[in-house]
Amino acid sequence: MSSSRELYLLYRDLLCPKETHSARSLEFSQAFNFKDDDVIAVTYPKSGTIWMQEILPLLLNGGDLTPIQTIPNWDRVPWLEEKRLEVVVDQLTSPRAFVTHFPYNLMPPSFHTSKAKAIYVMRDPRDVLVSSYYFHQMAQFLEEPGTIDEFLGKFLEGKVLFGKWTDHVKSWMHTELGDRVMHITYEEMVQDLPAALRRMSDFLGCNLDDETIQKIADYCSFRTMKENKMSNFSLVPKVFMDNDKSPFLRKGQSGDWKNHFSSEQLARFTSVIHKELEAESCSLPWSLDTMEGTDIEHEDPESP
Ligand code: A3P
Repeated sequence: MSSSRELYLLYRDLLCPKETHSARSLEFSQAFNFKDDDVIAVTYPKSGTIWMQEILPLLLNGGDLTPIQTIPNWDRVPWLEEKRLEVVVDQLTSPRAFVTHFPYNLMPPSFHTSKAKAIYVMRDPRDVLVSSYYFHQMAQFLEEPGTIDEFLGKFLEGKVLFGKWTDHVKSWMHTELGDRVMHITYEEMVQDLPAALRRMSDFLGCNLDDETIQKIADYCSFRTMKENKMSNFSLVPKVFMDNDKSPFLRKGQSGDWKNHFSSEQLARFTSVIHKELEAESCSLPWSLDTMEGTDIEHEDPESP
């Protein structure tokens, strides 16, 4: 079993996996030149990043399926901070799309001086934790997560990839980006994907008709993405990502935390998150206090 020191590098106090990040790639991200028509989807890990890697090329290309059917997601909409960006950047055609797990303070200078737009996707942190727990089982380049209780402790302390969830969310709640940033939740996307796509399309000025929005929603559905080998990580050798242990596209639901949290864990989780967000003027779109919450139940795509 590899240690955290062997698997991760620390960049400005944030843990990043060495498999996908290097000192050079992080330096490259800071020197990166954003163009005015670039778009970047920003997520805390496990909040819907690869979903946005499917959505953005479709929105930006009027529903053309070629990018999502011919280019693996990590090259089609590269991570700003990862090694692949330097390899593929010259092949990207404008308008370009990127993803990042960076908190706002790590966005490079050219992002601020350009007119590039950002879409921040936030997900109920309880579901983020559960999704991340399973991801740590399948991604062989990450530390073993231990028990869910142990992992919950690490998550609350921020000893996980890209630090504390609350720090990430707070950093993107208060930016000086004005109408260059749009906020959306994973739950909103699960509940009504065509409406979420309409909001994104309008924000990006894509000018898409309802038929195209519906077509994009169909291709970005959990079921369709799970079958898309350019998006489901089945192209990655099992020694790096073992979809048999837990598929990357695992459940695609909101509220799965209820199957994993005890009431004690919920109370512990909630008290820390509330305390850390106490001073914030923005409230969260979910009630974190009860086992019922405001989550939306969905049919389990895995069940017969
Ligand atoms: P689950 O593990 O809860 O299923 P990220 O891409 O940021 O790592 O996030 C991964 C999470 O997003 C996983 O959550 C994955 O199933 C979910 N996801 C990806 N595409 C989705 C889609 N089309 N619909 C719903 N959820 C999706």
